[in-house]
Amino acid sequence: MLRTRLCDVLGIEVPLIGAPYGPFDQVELAAAVCESGGLGSLGTAVRPVADLRRQWARMRELTDRPFAINHTLRPLNEEAFQATLDERPAAISFHLGVPDDLVKRAHDAGILWIQQVMDVRQAEQAVRAGVDVIVAQGGEAGGQGGEVSTVVLVPQVVDIAAGTPVVAAGGIADGRGLAAALVLGAQGVAIGTRLLASVEMNIAQEWKSRIVAAEARDTIKLAHSDRFMPPFSRPDAYGFPRSLRTAFLEDVEAHPERVQPAEAGPRIVEAMLTGRGHEFLPFTGQSAALVHEILPAAEIVRRIVDDAETILRRTAEACTRAAPH
Ligand SMILES: Cc1cc2nc3c(=O)[nH]c(=O)nc-3n(C[C@H](O)[C@H](O)[C@H](O)COP(=O)(O)O)c2cc1C
Repeated sequence: MLRTRLCDVLGIEVPLIGAPYGPFDQVELAAAVCESGGLGSLGTAVRPVADLRRQWARMRELTDRPFAINHTLRPLNEEAFQATLDERPAAISFHLGVPDDLVKRAHDAGILWIQQVMDVRQAEQAVRAGVDVIVAQGGEAGGQGGEVSTVVLVPQVVDIAAGTPVVAAGGIADGRGLAAALVLGAQGVAIGTRLLASVEMNIAQEWKSRIVAAEARDTIKLAHSDRFMPPFSRPDAYGFPRSLRTAFLEDVEAHPERVQPAEAGPRIVEAMLTGRGHEFLPFTGQSAALVHEILPAAEIVRRIVDDAETILRRTAEACTRAAPH
């Protein structure tokens, strides 16, 4: 079984994190990832705290393994963050900015901190804040992210991480991606888009089918998400969503001035909470082009890890054979 230092830090068996998906209910998927030896994650965006607590109780019924609860700065919900500290998951994961005051509150509560970063400046902030794991997320990723590609960002972050385990995210959907991440110096991967198209994920079948059918260029990076998404809670936070195209998004990108934030924001939140979020904003990464079937999460995790192990062994053998004597 492929193991890295990330496994020791997080108390997991395979070096794979199932990504958090903001407002989408992912309890069954996250539990399946945990039971497969990885770290499952639960998003918190948009949901009332009572709803989150019900999700966390369901999660603990399904698995007694470590999992992460995620927060972001778009916006930060202080009540939900405090509830997370009280819940004491193994880890809090965080995105869109590096809040050293929140890192300290988590550490004081005995909770590990997994910081997602989109550029080297954020990675430096994360190292200074003393986080436990850094996720270097490339611009290929589904959901909100930056512009630097995974293959450029990961080695840069590894170089300055000062021993903190680095996890690669963005564009990784199979064993080749995990093998490549390890060769770049990462200790594991975070997988979003590939696991969206899993049997356990609680999103519309139509969205999963679109992922299976998609080319990389069917996903677009949105420049005008400020017209319908909440503002950032802190000054240096940022992130641009990547999503499959929808009529709504094409309209916003072509005519941002026509979209009224006061009307569009609540309409989308309502759609998210009633299972129709994909009609507006089906966050999906370029790695959709590598997803060819909907599979159980355990099978996805097993294939990624087993294939990476085989690829790393074969590559080392092939390079040894090819080396001059
Ligand atoms: C539907 C969806 C929702 C996401 N929501 C969040 C989120 O709330 N918080 C977060 O830290 N990352 C979020 N992400 C980004 C993931 O953490 C991760 O960086 C990304 O999915 C990795 O790239 P991939 O999609 O190519 O696997 C989301 C990704 C997707 C696909």
